[in-house]
Formats: sequence, C-alpha cells, structure tokens
Amino acid sequence: MSVTVVVGGQWGDEGKGKITDILAADTDLVVRYQGGSNAGHTVIVQAEEFKLHLIPSGILREDCMCLMGGGTVIDPLVLAEEIGNLQARGYSCDNLRVSYTAHVVMPYHKHIEKLAEQARGRDSIGTTLRGIGPAYTDKTRRMPRPVRFRDLSDASQLRKLIEDQLTEKNIIVQHKYGQPPLSAEQVFEEIWPVAQKVSSYAVDGQRLVQDALRGERRIVFEGAQGTFLDLDCGTYPFVTSSHPVAAGACLGTGLGPTAIDEVIMICKAYTTRVGAGVLPTEDEGEGGQLLRDRGQEYGTTTGRPRRCGWLDGVVVRTAAMLNGATCLAITKLDVLDELATIPVCIGYEIDGVMLDTMPSWPDDLEKVRPVYEELPGWQQPLGQITAREELPAAAQAYVERIEELAAVPAKLISVGPSREQTIHI
Ligand code: IMP
Repeated sequence: MSVTVVVGGQWGDEGKGKITDILAADTDLVVRYQGGSNAGHTVIVQAEEFKLHLIPSGILREDCMCLMGGGTVIDPLVLAEEIGNLQARGYSCDNLRVSYTAHVVMPYHKHIEKLAEQARGRDSIGTTLRGIGPAYTDKTRRMPRPVRFRDLSDASQLRKLIEDQLTEKNIIVQHKYGQPPLSAEQVFEEIWPVAQKVSSYAVDGQRLVQDALRGERRIVFEGAQGTFLDLDCGTYPFVTSSHPVAAGACLGTGLGPTAIDEVIMICKAYTTRVGAGVLPTEDEGEGGQLLRDRGQEYGTTTGRPRRCGWLDGVVVRTAAMLNGATCLAITKLDVLDELATIPVCIGYEIDGVMLDTMPSWPDDLEKVRPVYEELPGWQQPLGQITAREELPAAAQAYVERIEELAAVPAKLISVGPSREQTIHI
C-alpha cells in the first residue's frame, strides 16, 4: 500500500494535473479531496491537451479508479459536460465515481456569487465565479439543508431542497441586490436532465477509500488550488473556501492522517497568482511578462492573465512546513531557460527584522520587503533532458537552492508540458 498526497505549494496553478497524471500510471485510485470546478488541471498526452476542472487527472488512465471525494463541491452541469467531452475523445469515464456526500454547486450559487462580487467592487476577491464560496457557505450553515450529490437521483427530494433554498436566497437576491427572484421550477428544470445523467456515478466515497486502504492499494490524493489559497492557512480573505493543504485530504474522504506515506509538494520554479491578494515577489515589469508568455500563464478556468513573479523561498519553506511535505516536484523549470540571471527571494524584511517563514497575518505580509539573491541562468533549452545530472550546472544549482529553501528534496522535475518531459530522481 502507498498513500500519496499531491499538494500545491504556492497559490495554485503549479502543475499538479501533470504530476498526478504521471503518478496515476502506478496508482489504483486517485481521489480529489476539495474544491470544485474552480480548478483547472492541464494534462498533455501524446500532444493532445486535456483541461480538467472537476474530474481527477487520473481519468486518462482507464485502469485507475477516480473519485471525487466528499470534501469537493460538484457542479452537475460542468461534470456532465466534462464527462461528455472525455467520452467524445475516447475515454469512457467508467472509472469515475463521485462521493454521494459531496455538496452540489447549484445555479443559484453562481448567480449569488456574481452579484456579491459585483457589489464588492474594488474589494472583490476575484473569485472564479464558479459558485464555490456560496456552496461551501451553505455546507457550513447546514440549514436549510443544501443539495448533496445523492439527492440528484431523487426528483421530489431535489425539488423540495431547491424550494427550501430559494425561499431564503430570494430574500437576498431581491432585497440585498435588487434583482428578480429565481424560480425553483426553472432551477429544477435546468438541473434535473443532467442530474439523471451524472447521479449514476454516486457511491459511498468514504467506503471506497477505506476499502482501498484495507486492500493495500496505491492511492493518490490530488489537491486543487494551493497552500496559500487554503481557508485556514492561506492569505485570508483572498483565499478559496476549502482546504487545499495536505491535511485537507483527510477531510471528507475517509483517510486518517497516519495512513499518509508521502506528501509531494508541487512547486513551480517561479510564482504566480490569480485574483486579488498579496504576492510579495510579483514582477509587474518585463520579467513578469516573460514568465507569463513563456509559461502560458493564463487561467485554465477563467482565461485571466496570471500575476507572475520570482520564486519565493519564504513561501516554499512555509508551505513545506504546513503540508509536512516529504518531497518536491519542481515544475516549469524550462520556462526560465532564456534568463541570464534569476532572482530568488530568500527572506522577508519587515521593520528591520528578517523572516524566513511567512507571517500569517495578511496585513503584515503586505508590508514585507522580499530580499533577493541572483542566481545565474543556464540559457539553453532543458526540454529534452531526462536525468538530473544532465541538467546544466546552473539549472542544477537552481534546483538545489529550491531544495535548500524548502528543506525538502526534489523527486520530480518537469521541463515541459508532456508526460515524457519529466526528470525522475
Ligand atoms: P474561488 O475558489 O472561485 O472562490 O476563488 C477564490 C480565489 O482563489 C480567487 O483568487 C481565485 O482566483 C483563486 N483560485 C481558485 N481556484 C484556483 C485555481 O485552481 N488556481 C489558481 N487560483 C485559483
């Protein structure tokens, strides 16, 4: 048996999809443990590109079972579309399961989120508008009881839950936002046809995980977003509404913490962020634009240009600690190929004091001054290199510096988007 958690070490978009797909080759079960269709995982197989939002990245290996765990939130419209797209490209999705306890993102969640973000104006969070926050808010409110995945197979139950929800939500829609009320019948009519399609994927997800653990299977828990978008550990309030950190894998999936053997923290060779919130090493000049262009840093889910900056050793070190990372997968190293020198942030200065881990109070983080060192670039393409010792000396030194800053060894280095462009250590 082996249990591995794949977790993003920055603000998401680290390349988790590619790494999970690679691990899935030797895995029996891949479980997504949090988030919903706000995620965007890109996997490239033989020059064919797949963009997954909900379905775990293991889905492209048909002998690997894939589960959306109870901690995720599922938009049935997106799920049906994603299954349809995969089936049209020859992937049956017979290996997909959805935990019936997962909460459902409904059209009213997306509607209310859009109204709320608009009303916030300059104070908006910059969410993906996928209804994630409102769906998790309903989950923690508990009453009126929100729709869960199992409810999608029962028309009268689904209709009743929608009516209960809209009795309350329409008060907000009408009186807070001055918009016309939503019709429960229309919402039901929109959801019921897809509910009938996707509800057959529902299982007792907790049992599936526990059986796999008892059966000594190889399991990968796939995180979405990243450590600093975590509701508790991230740069609150500019975070998502779930728990991307490794501990999140235990919530809602049936996994106890002592069963975890390995935590692979995905660390992009530089830093990006989408939406509002602090990004200490952001480069709004030419350097940031070069990273955006070479790294194709545009949101998979929203198409928004990502904010780009240099590797932040403080972020990486803090994330490794918060996740209990046992190893790193360093991604997109090839994006730095052209640079003559590469800035790396090795500490923060605040009020004359040096910090080597992040302050958790966001206002303090706004005040830090990143302290950089310049590492030499390698100025040659890395895309064809398959062994660590074949990397140019400067690239080896760069990888070693990341390992030092994180205090965790690298296990994988990605030097291009395809499965083959991966150095296994
Ligand atoms: P939400 O998850 O849609 O509520 O968005 C909250 C914040 O998380 C926003 O800043 C989003 O841009 C960010 N976010 C959510 N999902 C992702 C992701 O998969 N990658 C990067 N940022 C994300």
